[in-house]
Amino acid sequence: MEFKHVSVLLEETLDGLNIKPDGLYMDGTLGGGGHSFHIAERLTSGHLYGIDQDADAIQAASERLACYGDKVTIIRDNYVNGVARLKEIGVTGLDGIMLDLGVSSYQLDTAERGFTYKEDAPLDMRMDNRQSLTAKEIVNTYSETELFRIIRDYGEDNFAKNIAKHICIARQDKEIETTFELNEIIKAAIPAKIRAKGGHPSKRTFQAIRIECNKELDVLKNSIEEMVDFLNPGGRLAIITFQSLEDRIVKKAFASLQNPCTCPPNIPICVCGKKSKGNCVNRKPILPTEEEIEINKRSKSAKLRVFEKA
Ligand SMILES: C[S@@+](CC[C@H](N)C(=O)[O-])C[C@H]1O[C@@H](n2cnc3c(N)ncnc32)[C@H](O)[C@@H]1O
Repeated sequence: MEFKHVSVLLEETLDGLNIKPDGLYMDGTLGGGGHSFHIAERLTSGHLYGIDQDADAIQAASERLACYGDKVTIIRDNYVNGVARLKEIGVTGLDGIMLDLGVSSYQLDTAERGFTYKEDAPLDMRMDNRQSLTAKEIVNTYSETELFRIIRDYGEDNFAKNIAKHICIARQDKEIETTFELNEIIKAAIPAKIRAKGGHPSKRTFQAIRIECNKELDVLKNSIEEMVDFLNPGGRLAIITFQSLEDRIVKKAFASLQNPCTCPPNIPICVCGKKSKGNCVNRKPILPTEEEIEINKRSKSAKLRVFEKA
C-alpha cells in the first residue's frame, strides 16, 4: 500500500523552526518524511536526523529522503530516546527539533494496524510492532477501574464508566478480538439518543486505548525538557498536537520552561534560583487556515506551538 499522508501546518512549522542552512535538526515523528523533506531541502552543510518508531514509516521516509544522501540520518526508535541516540553518535546540540504527534493517515488507513473503528481488523494499535502490549491485551486484561480511568482521562468520554463495564461483561463470554467487536460493545454502552447526536460512538474510546497502548502522553511529558536542554542557544522546538490532552501538556511545559520561578508572588526578588530556559515564540498556538482544513480534514484539530531556547 502506498504511504499517503498530507503534512499538516507545513509552512508554519518550517517558519517556526527558523531553519539555518548549516544547522542540525531532528524530526522526532518522521512519518512519510513530509516535513523532513522540506527541512532537508533548506539545508546546505546542515544535517537532519529523522526518527520514527514505525517500520513502515521508516521505509517510506527512507525512500522519500534518499535524494538527500548523507545529509539525512534515519533512526528507528521512540522520540523519547532521540536525544540519547544522537548523543551516542556524537551530536552535542541541535538548532531545531520538531514533533508532529499522533498517527499518520497511512497508519489509520492500513486496516490491519487496528487503529480505526471504521474497518474490521484485529485490535492492535501499536505504532512500534516490536512492542508486546497491544490494544487487545489492554481491552482483555486491564481491570474495569483501569479501563474506566483510561477512557475517561484519555478519551474524555462521558460514558467511560458504562463502556468499561460493558467491556468487562463482554469479555467474560469470549476474548474481544476485533475492532468491530469492540464497536458493538461501545455502542451498547451509550444511550441511543446520545449516539444519534454525537460523532462515531467509538471515537473517544479508540483514542483512549491508542494513547494507553503507545504511552503517548507519558512519552511527550518525558521528552520536552530534555529536548529544550539539547537545543543550541536560539534553537527551536516546534510541536504539532491534535487533541487537547497533548496540547495542554505542551502549553504547560513551555510555560514552565519560560517561567520556572516557584517563589510566592509577594516576594520582591526571586529566591528559588530557577532560571528561564527561553520563550514561547507565539502567545497563542498557530492553527491551520480554512483553506488547509478544506483540503485536509485531518488538520482541523491541529495546534502548533514553538519554543525558542535562550
Ligand atoms: C502525524 S505522523 C508524522 C507525519 C510527518 N510529519 C509527515 O509530514 O509525513 C506521526 C508519526 O510519528 C510517529 N510517532 C508517533 N509517536 C512517536 C514516538 N513516540 N516515537 C517515534 N515515532 C512516533 C508515528 O509512527 C507516525 O509515523
